Order: sequence, then structure tokens, then C-alpha cells
Amino acid sequence: MTAIDVRSIGKTFTKKLTKKVCALNDVSFSVAEGSAFGFIGPNGAGKSTTIKILMGLLRPDSGSTFFYGRNSFEPAARKRVGYLAENPAYYDYLTPRELLEFVACHFDAASARGDRVAEVLEQVGLTDAADRPIRSLSKGMVQRIGLGQTLVHDPDLYILDEPMSGLDPLGRVLVADIIQQLKRRGKTVFFSTHIINDVERICDDVLLLVGGSVRYHGPVKTVVDQSYGTYEVVVRNGAAAAAMEPGFVLSEAREGETVRLSVPKQNLEAVIAKVSHHGELLSVEPERRTLEQIFVELIKSADGQKVGE
Ligand SMILES: Nc1ncnc2c1ncn2[C@@H]1O[C@H](COP(=O)(O)OP(=O)(O)O)[C@@H](O)[C@H]1O
Ligand SMILES: [Mg+2]
Repeated sequence: MTAIDVRSIGKTFTKKLTKKVCALNDVSFSVAEGSAFGFIGPNGAGKSTTIKILMGLLRPDSGSTFFYGRNSFEPAARKRVGYLAENPAYYDYLTPRELLEFVACHFDAASARGDRVAEVLEQVGLTDAADRPIRSLSKGMVQRIGLGQTLVHDPDLYILDEPMSGLDPLGRVLVADIIQQLKRRGKTVFFSTHIINDVERICDDVLLLVGGSVRYHGPVKTVVDQSYGTYEVVVRNGAAAAAMEPGFVLSEAREGETVRLSVPKQNLEAVIAKVSHHGELLSVEPERRTLEQIFVELIKSADGQKVGE
């Protein structure tokens, strides 16, 4: 069963009474149960608008959204969801413990138990700060409280809008660890971010949204594998490398006794045959591009299309 289904949603905002901003244009995707799903795109792409529609905070102009097959506008469908908003505001005179108890008692009695709250405080690394007012805590700690309030009723589906923003590298690792733990327990985690490297590390699937339209939707692995277009061949600095036909290698970089050649896939066999014949071959490796490099190119090409229109 799919945890989230988004079917053809569209949303246009009106700014200053007359100016229309198309935030989402016919966006469809689904999120498999038990997966970690990265929702990425540049600022203003429409990520938060999509998430607010899912959570019933905004109405789409068209289309519909579902959690586990039920329309997400039904409050009962949202019971299985933990939500972290992009810019949450908390009652800052409460302590983290009080806030979590307050949130938990809106769900059910089991969540509001003191030991459950203590467990969540521990999980997000806030045990030591549990009884200090939120207003005295650092930004990173407040962000962790936000994550804590999504965990307290142990939902099956987590919808997190930029859970890593404003966190230092340690804080980001903590959030990434929590997401991985949740996934191991069979939970579904859907989160938006502009830190693409985190997606590559944690997610099964990724959706790239640009200017309100889906630019890519599919497994992270597929994107990265498809980019294996070239290979790096390292050879000893000898006659064979120098005798390479023009166009066979894309570039070469000399480093002392070795030469690094960038070779397109279709020429790989010929190049290897030539250099190994002279006993000069040292290593062959696919030139791996990161998800970030691939998506930055996709985003740039989408900008290019807009300019050309
Ligand atoms: N309440 C609103 N009123 C007018 N425009 C909005 C509103 N919310 C979002 N937008 C516009 O919709 C677009 C998408 O915004 P948003 O969903 O917040 O993007 P993201 O979260 O990907 O950065 C932006 O152009 C933004 O200015
Ligand atoms: Mg946003």
C-alpha cells in the first residue's frame, strides 16, 4: 500500500490582489510504505505548499491527496502522521518535557505517559535540557524539539518540512540517524530538504520539484547509476597514453609518473586494450557524479527552458 498519494494537485496564489503565482502545476507522485523519500527543489519550488496541502492547512485548486488510501483532508487519515512544519512556533515558556506532554495528550493516553515522553527526549538528545524553558534553548535544540513532537505518538508516517535546516553537522547526523532508525522499524519518512547530499545518504526515492513541476521522480540509485557515463583510467606515463587517437579520451591530467584519462563508456574497451598492451594500466573506475551534481544540472537546464520559452 502507498503511504502517500498525490494526484494532479495544482495551486495558484494571488499576491497583492492581482499578481498570480503558480506554486504547483499538476503535481503527482506516490510514496511507498516503509521508504525514506527525499523531496527536493530550490527555494520557491513549491515543497512547503505541497506539504501544507497534504496536512490540510491549504486547499489545492485541483487534484487530491491521500494517506493510506484515505483522503488526507479527513482528520482520521492524519492520525497516523507526525508533522514537522517549516517554521514552527512553540509556547516558549514551556519546557521540552511540558511541550511534548501537551502534544501527546492530544493524541492518546499512551503517548502522554511520562516514560514515553522521557524516551522521546532521550531519542532527540534533549534529556539534559528537558526542564529548561524553550526560550532559553539554542536553535538546534528547538529544531530537535520539533522532531520530538512528531515522534511522541509513534506514528507510521512522518512528514518533515526541512528537518535539517539550521542544524550544525552533528545535529544533521542526529536527524539522519533518527530517520534511518524509523525506516528500520518499517516507518515511512517523507522529508523536504535543499541539502541533496543528505538525500543521497538516507533516501530510497527522490522527487525533484522545480518551479511547481515534477522534474524527476524515482529511485535515488537509478539517478546515480545512469550517470555512469564516463570512466577514469589511470595509466603510467608512457608512450601508449600519448599515442591515443584524438577524441578517444575527454581529458587527461598528468600527475608525475601517472596520467588520469577521462574515457567515455563506448571507448573504454579500446583504451584499456591499448594501454594494457604496453603494461601501463594502473586502475579503471567509473567517474561517479553525486546526486547533487546531477540535480544541479537538471535545475539549470529547467531554468534554461524557461528562459527560452
Ligand atoms: N501564502 C502565500 N501567498 C502567496 N504566495 C505564496 C504563498 N505561499 C507560497 N507562495 C509562493 O509559492 C511558491 C512556492 O512556495 P513554497 O511552497 O514555500 O516553496 P519551497 O517550500 O519549495 O521553498 C513561491 O513562489 C512562494 O512565494
Ligand atoms: Mg519550504
